[in-house]
Amino acid sequence: MSLLIYNIGTIVGIDTERRERIAGAEMDQLGRLDNAYLLADKGRIVAFGPMEELPAIEVEERLDAEGGTLFPSFCDSHTHLVYAGSREQEFLDKIHGLSYEEIARRGGGILNSADRLHAATEEELYAEAIERVHEIMRMGTGLVEIKSGYGLSTEDELKMLRVIRRIRQEEPIEVRATFLGAHAVARNYIGRQAAYVNLVVKEMLPAVAREGLADFVDVFCDRGFFTLEETERIIRAGAKYGMKAKIHANELAISGGVQLGVKEGALSVDHLECMGDEEIEALRSSHTMPTMLPGAAFFLGMSYPPARKMIQAGLAVALASDYNPGSSPSGNMRMVMALAATQMRMTPTEALHAATLNGAAAMGESHDFGSITVGKVANCFITKPLPSPEFFTYAYATPLIRHTILRGSIWRG
Ligand code: NIG
Ligand code: FE
Repeated sequence: MSLLIYNIGTIVGIDTERRERIAGAEMDQLGRLDNAYLLADKGRIVAFGPMEELPAIEVEERLDAEGGTLFPSFCDSHTHLVYAGSREQEFLDKIHGLSYEEIARRGGGILNSADRLHAATEEELYAEAIERVHEIMRMGTGLVEIKSGYGLSTEDELKMLRVIRRIRQEEPIEVRATFLGAHAVARNYIGRQAAYVNLVVKEMLPAVAREGLADFVDVFCDRGFFTLEETERIIRAGAKYGMKAKIHANELAISGGVQLGVKEGALSVDHLECMGDEEIEALRSSHTMPTMLPGAAFFLGMSYPPARKMIQAGLAVALASDYNPGSSPSGNMRMVMALAATQMRMTPTEALHAATLNGAAAMGESHDFGSITVGKVANCFITKPLPSPEFFTYAYATPLIRHTILRGSIWRG
């Protein structure tokens, strides 16, 4: 299948240097080309250039971009979008003054979602999840990581991961799966956290690995959830099965999770609402991607991660949606970029790099995704004509996306 997109007003997110990530001051430099074409073949970008150099070739499909802007698809490196039901009752509880931790202590929160997931069949779970997957595809996401973690028993964790595998097999969006058995202590293990961690390590992880259901392993390493020692044990056990680590760290307190992630070579440490100078320093000498989830800070009314400080320290940072029923019931990466701009003073260009190339790096996939680069998977979306690339983040709720291209084909879902 070959596709020629012509009359593109501007291509943004071009990276000709094939960088693995974009860090520090470079995050604010946008690779762009005006009045351009892009050619895809067999799912990959094979060429792009100025319209004057448009090659006279036969292609199977042609798409007139009508002057719109072409962006690389979002790479959302942190979601929990497979879940059953919703939790708007807790939303009301929060409005009435309860904190996320208080709701969790009352048996709400993650355990509430675990009860609902337990009651749902695999088919029902899939039917709900696929709606969300199509929603994020329409909003520009082309590569997504999805976590388990609402099962909290071997059987239910496998059920979640099989749903993720089915999405991966059936949809043109690229999917990576993360095993997050240590999201919360299951209801029937309350007061027996050590026994639950044993279950995660000795029963769940081997079962997940046996079916090849997870690329990565994650732990909610935070106050009131899992300790540093438990986190280390779980991610080391995951490493034995070839699963790289992604850690929920420093959302509720300075947990030490950032330093642990760096020490263990984690792909990313995520959340980072509570960050000190030592955490930033630890990240400077590492390949671990600090990943911020401003949708969660927004929804829970928490303080935002210190993005400016991190970028000024020379770090690459990523942005992800955290799409989940408790702390971020949206997978809208454009809204995430707008929050990054308005609440963390990231420029729209920095936010774009954080939501694309650096998001891909947080999944170890930036060689194939996250920028407009010859040879990469042809995942992009095309907007209406924009007065500037920044307009996309500025007019954050205006419907602007006209076409979604995944693996070099127009997705008409
Ligand atoms: O990333 N922080 C831990 N886990 C999710 C929330 C999950 C939930 O509340 O259901 C998060 O915010
Ligand atoms: Fe999360």
